[in-house]
Amino acid sequence: MEHGSCEISSELYSENDYKCDAGPTVNQKNVVSRFRFSLPPESVVDSDGDLVVPRKHSKPTETFIDLEHSQSTNLDLVGLQVWRGSLLLADWLLCHSSSLPEDDYVLELAGGVGLATIVTSMFRPVICTDVNRGEIFDVIRANCARNNHLTARPVEVIELDFQEAILPSKITSLLPKVSTIVAADVIYDDTLTDAFVETLGKLLAVPPKRRAYVALEKRYVFTVADRDCVAPCYDYFLGRLDKLENVIAEQVEIDFPQYFRYDRVKELVLWRISSKF
Ligand SMILES: C[S@@+](CC[C@H](N)C(=O)[O-])C[C@H]1O[C@@H](n2cnc3c(N)ncnc32)[C@H](O)[C@@H]1O
Repeated sequence: MEHGSCEISSELYSENDYKCDAGPTVNQKNVVSRFRFSLPPESVVDSDGDLVVPRKHSKPTETFIDLEHSQSTNLDLVGLQVWRGSLLLADWLLCHSSSLPEDDYVLELAGGVGLATIVTSMFRPVICTDVNRGEIFDVIRANCARNNHLTARPVEVIELDFQEAILPSKITSLLPKVSTIVAADVIYDDTLTDAFVETLGKLLAVPPKRRAYVALEKRYVFTVADRDCVAPCYDYFLGRLDKLENVIAEQVEIDFPQYFRYDRVKELVLWRISSKF
């Protein structure tokens, strides 16, 4: 995250051409970016870019997601931007969609403007959650509608604030049908990390067993105390994860194909955290 006074802007926008002619519908100050990606060979789109019946042995096909988002925000509203971790997560989802249980829901935590949710909905029903700040829920819904050429499976949009002690009733009622939880770029503030890990622990403790995939970008800073570049938010997350009971946490190799266009920098990491009971 680049800090300029109080405004923060995702590094993503400058590293590729995401230009798109479409305009925003929720807020005229927003922009719309086009995220092009190739589809794994077993997925197919027609000439309009619509997802059609999966077919085996076909060649990779290109399609796109158009997303309305803010170009820069303050720290409270970073969910209105698109972050690199969500593209890593989207790549993982495209690569592993067929291994996710057929009719189970994928639950996305802190879904931002909906990129990973829209990718998931190409293959599986999905619940997109975030904290209700700014116009985030209007933007998620508008982005799902804008990309209805891809969203083949239902998308539920539900508020889930990590700071709330009790999980929303809509989430607890759907939880038995959730086998996979995903989240991207939620590790940048230690108080939020505490709340996120606690929420994750609650979600993984409710039977049946499920797995969470957490994608993030380690953010390094140089400190005089350490006389080195360190990633304090990431280190804090690892410490919290270590204390989480009844889970197995493993780092996942990032050796799966890249379908989206972004810099897959070495700071990107993916963790799998599974229920253990
Ligand atoms: C850096 S953004 C990542 C957004 C999106 N996952 C992505 O990678 O593009 C951090 C996300 O955490 C969410 N968030 C912040 N505080 C939260 C809270 N208390 N409960 C749930 N989500 C929260 C933000 O709204 C935002 O969507």
